[in-house]
Amino acid sequence: MSTITVSAPGKLMLLGEHAVVYGKPCIVTAIDQRMHATVTLTSEPLFHLDAPDVQVENYEKPMNILGEGDIPKGAKFVEQAVHNFLKKHPYSGGLTIRTFSDFHAQFGFGSSSASTVCVIGALAKLLNPSMEKKEIFDLSYQTVLDIQGKGSGFDIAAAVFGGTLFYVSPGTTIEPLDALELPLLIGYTGVKADTVTLINEVKKRAEKYPQDIERIYEEMASLAMRGREAVEKKDWKTLGELFDFNQGLLESLGVSSLKLALLIHSAREAGALGAKLSGAGKGDCMVALTEGNEKKSVIEALQTHGQYIEIACHAEGLRTE
Ligand code: MEV
Repeated sequence: MSTITVSAPGKLMLLGEHAVVYGKPCIVTAIDQRMHATVTLTSEPLFHLDAPDVQVENYEKPMNILGEGDIPKGAKFVEQAVHNFLKKHPYSGGLTIRTFSDFHAQFGFGSSSASTVCVIGALAKLLNPSMEKKEIFDLSYQTVLDIQGKGSGFDIAAAVFGGTLFYVSPGTTIEPLDALELPLLIGYTGVKADTVTLINEVKKRAEKYPQDIERIYEEMASLAMRGREAVEKKDWKTLGELFDFNQGLLESLGVSSLKLALLIHSAREAGALGAKLSGAGKGDCMVALTEGNEKKSVIEALQTHGQYIEIACHAEGLRTE
């Protein structure tokens, strides 16, 4: 076999963002919007990448200098992923890679992490088929840290394992939860959030108010643990209330925004069981839980104040197409 196509899901954080960077648990769900990669082994030792979604076309360089020199922004994760894989599993040929996505990189669904997982997953299938999912996770997480320096790896866990996970960084706990019927609705702010900038902003606040922020993280950890129970009991009313608590704490970290607050409050007023921002904050998406008749009015509220994105959660992890 010398060519393969794989795909991996994007993600949405349900509870515990930011605190998860500091060792607290979070809950993440994989979504049915996927990243895809086709990887072909070639004989000439040349790396060739097409990633049209991030404006990379016909990008080429010799295999022996991967990870060196100027790398276009859209190629960084994939090139580093290949570099990291080949450091552990040497190979003397070349590679042609094409990545393409079901979703826009602006949504904050984790396109860089999902493309990293796709490339490492495809190389594993082609060059080392006995590689375990946990090793794919570890190599992918290392790649993200090499490129962006920070992050908990929850998005990598969602891309590799799929489903809905109770996760503790750096992958010490990756526990699947039964959340097939999670009644989640998604609103998009239209604003791109920058995760590293936001992690740094929260860090600054924590330097000024270390004990207060630690107490917030502790409380978020407790919400994630209670959230795990609520998910398993399919107690959406309680999970909605935990969303609202978590949103209050994220406000205290300073990562909400007018647009997020508008979407969140209008979803609640339209009858949502709870609503919160999802991810780094100050943009990207929010999530709302609804049951029964309220679904239609919550969707209308999201459409009025931003963009409603129709997705299913609890999607399958990394898979061969
Ligand atoms: C970003 O989507 C979520 C953060 O917790 C960062 C991370 O966990 O890597 C802010």
